[in-house]
Amino acid sequence: MNSPAIRQNTESLSDLFAPHLEAVEKRTASALEATGFESLLLHAGNPPLLFLDDHHLPFKVQAPFKVWAPLSDAPDSFVFFTPGRKPVLLIHQPIDYWHKSPETPKDYWVAGFDIVSCADRAAARAALPKDLSRTAFIGAAFQELVSWGVKAINPEHLITHLDYPRAAKTPYEIACLREANVLGARGHAAAEKAFRAGASEFEVGLAFMAGCGQRERELPYNPIIALNEGGAVLHYQVQQRIRPPELHSMLIDAGAEFAGYASDITRTHSHHDAEFAQLIRRFDELQLELCARAKAGVDWRHFHQWSYRAISEYLHEVGLIRVSADEAVDSALTSVFYPHGIGHLLGLQVHDVGGQQLGPVGGTIDRPYNHPFLRLTRKLEDGFVVTVEPGFYLIDQLLEEAKAKPLGKMIEWKRVEQLKPFGGIRIEDNVVARNGGSENLTRAAFHA
Ligand code: GLY
Ligand code: MN
Ligand code: MN
Repeated sequence: MNSPAIRQNTESLSDLFAPHLEAVEKRTASALEATGFESLLLHAGNPPLLFLDDHHLPFKVQAPFKVWAPLSDAPDSFVFFTPGRKPVLLIHQPIDYWHKSPETPKDYWVAGFDIVSCADRAAARAALPKDLSRTAFIGAAFQELVSWGVKAINPEHLITHLDYPRAAKTPYEIACLREANVLGARGHAAAEKAFRAGASEFEVGLAFMAGCGQRERELPYNPIIALNEGGAVLHYQVQQRIRPPELHSMLIDAGAEFAGYASDITRTHSHHDAEFAQLIRRFDELQLELCARAKAGVDWRHFHQWSYRAISEYLHEVGLIRVSADEAVDSALTSVFYPHGIGHLLGLQVHDVGGQQLGPVGGTIDRPYNHPFLRLTRKLEDGFVVTVEPGFYLIDQLLEEAKAKPLGKMIEWKRVEQLKPFGGIRIEDNVVARNGGSENLTRAAFHA
């Protein structure tokens, strides 16, 4: 694996990987049994071609494949699994003088697999059993697959069965998420330094990547780096090359990846304004109080309501609203400033799968009325990894809409104007829910 320096020694990762693979095998076996398949074929995916061009977009390995093998740079590889047998990794190693073929992996995880090198798809097909008529395929279908004779392509009921247990992470996965946080924290430290030195958004982005030792395509998502009022755009994507004449604040939402697992971290910084720095400190306390409450047994819909209540109190305290926190909650005034969910599942995908699933066979746990953007509605269980990301923003569009309604009278407009140049505040950590407690991977990483 071509990964940056890590603290975790590979010995302990290999100790953790074997039981992880065993757990994945066990839950896959029961999913296959429940859905009437005998084996599973997973595809790593391929980088898409640009329209009418011979260039590819960056390759991103597909999550159902990387649950098994942290192989991020071998497109067109497969994992084949039959319960009771060692999984087979068909690694695509083309003979190609235009590109470097992926090397045969030698990392801590390879002992779990029989590894077969395949120069092309025909070789991969030849290495699989002749009869695939009881096999399910998961991945983006390709043309030749029609003739491979699999029983089903991306059967929904099987995918549902496989998604549901991914919410609770194995100790190996938590170790990977811990490393992803360490790398992300390094990036954030470098980004803050660049911001303090007067860098543009673009330069802060370069500093972030250098800090975590990852190029852009290796990051789990495009970093959100917003100076000043750009912080009010929730997924601000611009990265201006020219820095604004006056610096007030920076909101940076950026994470790193380790062995396919993502960190998703947000920090807000004041450049020199002492009052805004104090607002950030106070918001940080609120965020930490929420993190401490992310324990097993908590219904995430209630957790979101707690955050909604806490932010309503904060808005009252800092003078953005003229009404009590109770009134802000009852009237949904708080949504003008806090229009997103408190967090989501995190893992192989930044917004990990199964967040609203009622059970392994499917069904949906609805989002609470008035909170249409909440991505997680399940009850936390031991080992769930979630983000806790409260925020408040001065968003022109939402403020304008509110102004035209009775809600407008509840807003302290002078205070809005005063804070607009700072954009907003979001603080986001990655937290493991435990029985009787919670473990904050991000705070630990910043102190590592
Ligand atoms: N970085 C996207 C999010 O926080 O969900
Ligand atoms: Mn984020
Ligand atoms: Mn997030």
